Amino acid sequence: ILLHVADRIRSRIDELAHLETLDNGKAIRETRAQVNASADYFEYYGGWADKLEGHVVPVRGRFHTYTVYEPIGVCGQIIPWNSPLPQAAQKLAPALAAGCTMILKPAEQTPTTALILGEMLLEAGLPRGVVNILPGFGPTAGAALASHPGIDKVAFTGEVGTGQEILRASVDNLTKVTLELGGKAPNIVCDDADLDAAVRGTLFGIFAGAGQYCDAGPRLFVHSKIRDVFVDKLLKMTQKIRVGDPLDPATHVGSLTTQEQLEKVVRYVEHGQQEGAELIAGGEQPDVPQLAGGYFYLPTIFDRVKPGTRLAQEEIFGPVLSLLDYDDDEQLVTDANGTVYGLAAGIWTEDMRRALTLAERLKAGTVWINTFRQTQISASFGGYKMSGIGREKGLSGLEEYCEEKTVWVDLNDRGIGYFDD
Ligand code: NAI
Ligand code: MG
Repeated sequence: ILLHVADRIRSRIDELAHLETLDNGKAIRETRAQVNASADYFEYYGGWADKLEGHVVPVRGRFHTYTVYEPIGVCGQIIPWNSPLPQAAQKLAPALAAGCTMILKPAEQTPTTALILGEMLLEAGLPRGVVNILPGFGPTAGAALASHPGIDKVAFTGEVGTGQEILRASVDNLTKVTLELGGKAPNIVCDDADLDAAVRGTLFGIFAGAGQYCDAGPRLFVHSKIRDVFVDKLLKMTQKIRVGDPLDPATHVGSLTTQEQLEKVVRYVEHGQQEGAELIAGGEQPDVPQLAGGYFYLPTIFDRVKPGTRLAQEEIFGPVLSLLDYDDDEQLVTDANGTVYGLAAGIWTEDMRRALTLAERLKAGTVWINTFRQTQISASFGGYKMSGIGREKGLSGLEEYCEEKTVWVDLNDRGIGYFDD
């Protein structure tokens, strides 16, 4: 069934990408890629469905001891608005492969594609009631899922504060919880980096999707030796980014998803200016008549951002890049690790010893070397520190939907001798 769903998603790519773009404003070139990635989830976990094997465990004495993976039970899954279809696929596919049943609550701003996905699952032969798509609001539908005693596991993606509420709600029933929360990834350009590649990666890392990705790279550390050359290249290429009609295939960056998100970005740009950072690109909505009234915002870059400021510390979830100074690797590690988040990090250097040493020292669930925001279904994803609990994707993501049972079989004919003498 999961493999059929993957085929169905791919056969409706134009329609699904169109709906997703209407719902959340992301450029169609991006939502098309995301629809494809959503099919990948069903294909990948469909492949796992008959391969999740337990172990025979070596133990002392004459016992046959083995483990089996069992489905964890009924799952409540709650997702945000930034990537509705891939988020739904990322939650549903592993839970189905593990044998669970589930209630998925899409974000109230973007419920459309999750509902269609529910239909496709039924068309592919899934029995009714196994997957339930429940559109609704957070404090009502979401909170009910988080606290209901009939729910065995809650899988949540969204803001840190909401994740904390869900964790609190889990206490009474000791519901298992996995959380995928925010991020503030550092992106580090060393003095020996391939600068053109680093510029392209940096821009993709922060401006694709108008920066509305948890693994975006809003904190850019550029080594002082190459700073001026790098910033020059960065600004030149930033000018070439096409912000516009999300349905136009030529558009690089569409709109922000909600008015609330636009207002948040505007607020942080004000904070940046009050905090003394230097605005060197963007900082306003595009002045184009066709985009008037939309939630568009220009790619924005602040220079001379200080590590302790709000701009450098808090998740904006928008097209705002902060440049921080960097001279030596020791201070860099302290500053790069100096937020509450730990979802992702990027390093640009040709020196692999340096790259791997930094990769070891950065507290992040994913580290990219000479690339940025690469994710695939087979590689696990999740956060250190306040970026989350648990992992999604890959085998780790599947195991989060399982209980592991250990079975002991006594092969002796003597039984337990404790009371014999
Ligand atoms: P949000 O936390 O406001 O909402 C997420 C979901 O939780 C929505 O479905 C909402 O209805 C629901 N919700 C709200 N209050 C609830 C409550 N009391 N109980 C249960 N459910 C509740 O997040 P938002 O604004 O939708 O998404 C943006 C956030 O998501 C960003 O902070 C971003 O970092 C994070 N995010 C994390 C990702 C990751 O994989 N780590 C990926 C994408 C986004
Ligand atoms: Mg929110």
